[in-house]
Amino acid sequence: MKVLITGGAGFIGTHTTAALLAAGHEVRILDRLDPQIHGAGSRWPARLPKRAERMLGDVREPSDVARALEGIDAVCHFAAFTGVGQSMYDWASYVATNVGGTACLLEAIVKRGRPLRRFVLASSRAIYGEGAHACAAHGEVHPGPREREALERGDFEARCPSCGRAVKAVPTNEDLGAAPLSLYGHTKAQQEDLCRLAARTFGLPVTILRYFNVYGSGQSLKNPYTGIVSIFYSRLKAGQPIALYERGLPGRDFVHVADVARANVLALESEVPAGTAFNVGSGRELTVRGLAESLAVAAGLPVRFEDRGEFRVGDIRSCFADAARARALLGFRAEVSLEGGLREFALWARGEPSADLYQRSVEELQRHGLLGAAGAAENAKAAAHAHA
Ligand SMILES: NC(=O)c1ccc[n+]([C@@H]2O[C@H](COP(=O)([O-])OP(=O)(O)OC[C@H]3O[C@@H](n4cnc5c(N)ncnc54)[C@H](O)[C@@H]3O)[C@@H](O)[C@H]2O)c1
Ligand SMILES: [Zn+2]
Repeated sequence: MKVLITGGAGFIGTHTTAALLAAGHEVRILDRLDPQIHGAGSRWPARLPKRAERMLGDVREPSDVARALEGIDAVCHFAAFTGVGQSMYDWASYVATNVGGTACLLEAIVKRGRPLRRFVLASSRAIYGEGAHACAAHGEVHPGPREREALERGDFEARCPSCGRAVKAVPTNEDLGAAPLSLYGHTKAQQEDLCRLAARTFGLPVTILRYFNVYGSGQSLKNPYTGIVSIFYSRLKAGQPIALYERGLPGRDFVHVADVARANVLALESEVPAGTAFNVGSGRELTVRGLAESLAVAAGLPVRFEDRGEFRVGDIRSCFADAARARALLGFRAEVSLEGGLREFALWARGEPSADLYQRSVEELQRHGLLGAAGAAENAKAAAHAHA
């Protein structure tokens, strides 16, 4: 097949391009080389396979998209803004790129007349908000947003919506309803809605992949807004402490980009019913602190933590994948171990220039009131009292 990858110059796109070429497909990339990801000057990444056709253009621009779709059999739609924290204050650009870009692309596909063999959407675990949890009294539950007041008291637990008990994460399967808690998550849920509408209305053979936390070589070391492994690595390399939000206890599911690229190829080649959604994760839960410790070992760098009881508004407590559907219907199973995957990342990152721009992203969160701290309410009250 001749496959168009939007956002193909990015982290997952580069790996997917290589995997598709290796599987005998042809690849065309449409990418605007966004400076936040590619740096000023916006050059095509050196890692991008030479055999892929490159088109500089924007998914929000109908003429670019129409040109990119010429002669194409299947599409991977990856172009997006991906920072959860950043999305909480940059509303318009996230909606324009993620939702507007998807609408523009789908409209062009509908209008071009010739049917596609497959359309793969890169969605995210962010659409679930909090993942599935188990309550001792109520079985499987889906916790809603945690109250800021509770977080400011240092209570970071997800709680049962019926009885308020603290609950533990269990594997999240694809049938859990969408309940995003960040603007980024909302844009991903809307991308899914638009794709399902195109599937229902025009029979577009859409496959939705919900990636969990993807990591591996090639993840931007210049972008302080996304990619926890890259951000932590830049801190370690700069000899700086890693700030733990929520005491480092939130649970995530880390999946290596080589596995994700393979899932993309399988999704492009599989004939599943239009609109089917799949988790793409390892199926294992790891705390953020545990990840930082494993990364430090893999990188051979000492780790220091800074725990000020801070939290970010829009973050979730825990979510990890139920990987059964992808295994049953796509024949996909994550194969890269965490240790092996982190070694692959560290080996690559060692030779790369990295910029520790983390502080800037923290200052932006602070400026927008999106970085809280346990005890902050008490401190503020005490300060007001002392003042009076
Ligand atoms: N990395 C993860 O952990 C993760 C997890 C879940 C979902 N996803 C999704 O996977 C996809 C790819 O993510 P990634 O990690 O490779 O991100 P990335 O930032 O590395 O790549 C995104 C690419 O899209 C391009 N782009 C941005 N806006 C564009 C526009 N308007 N027109 C054309 N190109 C544009 C950028 O230049 C970049 O090359 C995204 O849709 C993201 O939401 C990623
Ligand atoms: Zn309960």
